[in-house]
Amino acid sequence: MIVNSSSRLNGVLYDLRGPVHDRAAELERRGQEVLRLNIGNPAPFGFEAPEVVVDALRDTLPHAHGYSESQGLGSAREAIRDHYAARPGFPAAGIDDILIGNGVSELVTLTLQALLEPGDEVLIPSPDYPLWTASTVLAGGVPRHYPCDETAGWAPDTEELGRMVTSRTRAIVIINPNNPTGAVYSRRTLDAIAAVADRHGLLLLSDEIYDRIVYPGHVHISTAQVAPMHPCITFSGLSKTSRVAGYRAGWVVATGFSPDDGYLAGLRLLASMRMCASVPAQHAITAALRHDDTIAALRSPGGRLYEQRALTVRLLQEIPGVTCHEPGGGLYAFPRIDPHVHGIVDDEQLVLDFLDAEHVLLVHGRAFNWTRPDHLRIAFLPHPPVLADAMDRFARFLTGYRQHPHRPAA
Ligand SMILES: Cc1ncc(COP(=O)(O)O)c(C=O)c1O
Repeated sequence: MIVNSSSRLNGVLYDLRGPVHDRAAELERRGQEVLRLNIGNPAPFGFEAPEVVVDALRDTLPHAHGYSESQGLGSAREAIRDHYAARPGFPAAGIDDILIGNGVSELVTLTLQALLEPGDEVLIPSPDYPLWTASTVLAGGVPRHYPCDETAGWAPDTEELGRMVTSRTRAIVIINPNNPTGAVYSRRTLDAIAAVADRHGLLLLSDEIYDRIVYPGHVHISTAQVAPMHPCITFSGLSKTSRVAGYRAGWVVATGFSPDDGYLAGLRLLASMRMCASVPAQHAITAALRHDDTIAALRSPGGRLYEQRALTVRLLQEIPGVTCHEPGGGLYAFPRIDPHVHGIVDDEQLVLDFLDAEHVLLVHGRAFNWTRPDHLRIAFLPHPPVLADAMDRFARFLTGYRQHPHRPAA
């Protein structure tokens, strides 16, 4: 008997855990230590979870073994409501406008499944966090990637975005701060995106999971703050800000909908089919939003994230043929590797060759729906000496590396 997967998976790509990741796992099975700079998982790099968040989970565990309401615990949704109410101009949301999920990932899937008819188009940034593209395809939609301009600090090209709208377009995805580029969008950029959404009646889907990991000199503005009257779903969670990616705690806030919109009822229906999000993690959400701001020190001068970002960008810039826009937010650097200097035609091969040679795992830029083989993403999570060593190894590897299809130069 042959058991095949559904044809709905055709075109669903998620390279963050794809073939290069498999090669790293194989090396590890053979006893080789691999430095994994491929995903934004803070815990293995010594980022402690805030005590108050861990305590909340532990203390509520004996009372958290039943299902909650499918939208989430009232107390956690109240904490989320109050969290956004503190943002100037963020439209008032009631707890019925909030849905808690097992991480933002689950909610991305649910929001797209509830929205799309087969063939509906979703405008997604290029480069993107590839879950958005994969989930659009899985929901029967068609991802259309709008370009972001590296020479403009990776700001979206909003004129092109406007030109890409067709009669099938349903939504615009905004990732701000952006993964992988680290761009933090200006009010002007957000206004221009909101104007396109308004002109064409498109839903705004705003992934703001890095909203509190924003470095000095940058200010995060929620899309809903600039478009309070427009239908918008804001996504965030604890994985990055509270460094508890394993808890699987995320939420969405729906604003700007009219009572006649059927969409939120569809979303609630899908949420009820998976019963509810992990209840202990929901208690952690309440504690994190009411009592924890430890992320502020990490992103400030002297803090680990601030210093590791600076070190990574500086060391990358010193490598001939490599340039790197300084990320304004998030956990990643997205350097450009000049294809003329290193003859790169296949960025995935570059990442594989580097993994084999130096046992450091990065992600190639095309995994983020970037079209050219000239970027890589590096999560700057390890302590500075480990990062410096990884960057050293990358510089050493690139020196003399010229790619001929599938073989590095000797
Ligand atoms: C932009 C973005 N959105 C969503 C997610 C998924 O987060 P979660 O752990 O809440 O599922 C990530 C994780 O890296 C991300 O970078």
